[in-house]
Amino acid sequence: MSTPADLRSWIALLEREGELVRVSVEVDPHLEITEIVDRTVKSGGPALLFERPKGSEHALLINQFGTERRMCLALGVDRLDDAGQKIADVLEMQPPEGLRDKVAGLMKLKSIAGSRPKSVRSGPCQEVVLTGDDVNLDLLPIQTCWPQDAAPFITLPAVITADPRTGGRNVGMYRMQKIDRRSTYMHWQIHKDGRMDYLASDGKLEVAVALGLDPVTAYTASAPLPKHIDELMLAGFLRGEPVELVKAKTVDLEVPADAEIVLEGYVESGDEGIEGPFGDHTGYYTAPEPFPVFHITAMTMRRGAIYPSIVVGKPPAEDAWLGKATERIFLPAVRMSVPEIVDYDLPVAGAFHNCAIISIRKTFPGQAQKIMHAVWGLGMLSLTKCVVVVDEWVDVHDYEEVFFRVTANVDVKRDVLISEGPLDHLDHAPGTQFVGGKLGIDATHKLPEEGARPWPDEIDMSPEIEELVTRRWAEYGLPAPRSVRPADPS
Ligand SMILES: Cc1cc2nc3c(=O)[nH]c(=O)nc-3n(C[C@H](O)[C@H](O)[C@H](O)COP(=O)(O)O)c2cc1C
Repeated sequence: MSTPADLRSWIALLEREGELVRVSVEVDPHLEITEIVDRTVKSGGPALLFERPKGSEHALLINQFGTERRMCLALGVDRLDDAGQKIADVLEMQPPEGLRDKVAGLMKLKSIAGSRPKSVRSGPCQEVVLTGDDVNLDLLPIQTCWPQDAAPFITLPAVITADPRTGGRNVGMYRMQKIDRRSTYMHWQIHKDGRMDYLASDGKLEVAVALGLDPVTAYTASAPLPKHIDELMLAGFLRGEPVELVKAKTVDLEVPADAEIVLEGYVESGDEGIEGPFGDHTGYYTAPEPFPVFHITAMTMRRGAIYPSIVVGKPPAEDAWLGKATERIFLPAVRMSVPEIVDYDLPVAGAFHNCAIISIRKTFPGQAQKIMHAVWGLGMLSLTKCVVVVDEWVDVHDYEEVFFRVTANVDVKRDVLISEGPLDHLDHAPGTQFVGGKLGIDATHKLPEEGARPWPDEIDMSPEIEELVTRRWAEYGLPAPRSVRPADPS
């Protein structure tokens, strides 16, 4: 399955698939759109194209990623795990043996080589160019999402910077609070790569912001890649087509040629203001705190540009499926570092950074604790507040099953680890921002060396009786039973 080349072909695809509804009446981007979208997202409803947002000539697209099916359509896969498998195929490459292996290996190498973004001379994102005093954010239907939000916020941007030392590109999704027609705050949190570029600059850092991208490129702005890996490369790899870039008009950066809207400008150290509050994906308002001011030197657009937006808030919101895509796409990389990990689940209700449930192939005492420490040292997973470790046969996505294991298998004195370390920037619970307690729960079966008495057998029916009852079920005249918990293979 190929992926849409730009936002317009994505909208056309959503429409063909019955996944998009156009709203033709005038609707207010101040709170009203949020209430409509929140009800739509929470009931598994369609993407919405607001054709007449109040006060703007630009249509607003929202809820494009709001269901598993749309996230799969966006990535051109049947299951999110298929996108992860593409990465696994490359990570697990071995020296080829026969001719078939060599050809397959070459195809994989070609797919990596073809991921590099491609520079082109011109692109539709510069059909309209506004510079200097003509720059005007008032033209866009920027949403004020929640009643206590400080101002309208741009919520689905791809923020492009370059590392001043290496030139390496970074693309991150950082919300931007509108200050006036020509400036916003730039909310890159302390653990994020855009901020690292800002800190490494000699005082001034050029920034470009792309809005309204093909869905894969838009997703990759939110992907937690290591700093030295270009998000646009991941986009090219997942799309199977390089992202085309044009030179920006007023800054020394390249921007996606097919973007609907591009904001060019700069941030300067010392030029900061108080950003927030903002109704965030934690389900709470984040407190006001200082962030740099982004001064806009140019605003370029496609003719009739479509403005993309997303509403976060109490989970589940639209960002749930962006997060689930990351969970599935990054599983192979997580396994590469910690091979005994079988699967993991970051519950949406835990806002992704609050909880990780991890199943492992356990072969030695203390291994669950090893996993907890590994997670607390691994990329953005290091911010996880609570890690629950279960055995390989437990379905980490079945929270009832996980709850059963946690309550059944844990001696609270022996199996609960309290540690401390960095926490998510947005976590309001710790007494000191950014650092606090970590909880590890070892819900695996215990070995004798772990101080357990002989572990009891789990209750399972004998296979012959299971088979007999399955065979005779229709005879009993009973409704079809719901599926049962997978058996412990040990
Ligand atoms: C809808 C949405 C909004 C986000 N807003 C922010 C934000 O305002 N600030 C931030 O630092 N991260 C935000 N994130 C998370 C980052 O995009 C994510 O951590 C990403 O990996 C950052 O890129 P980086 O690793 O290149 O810094 C948001 C993610 C999503 C899905």
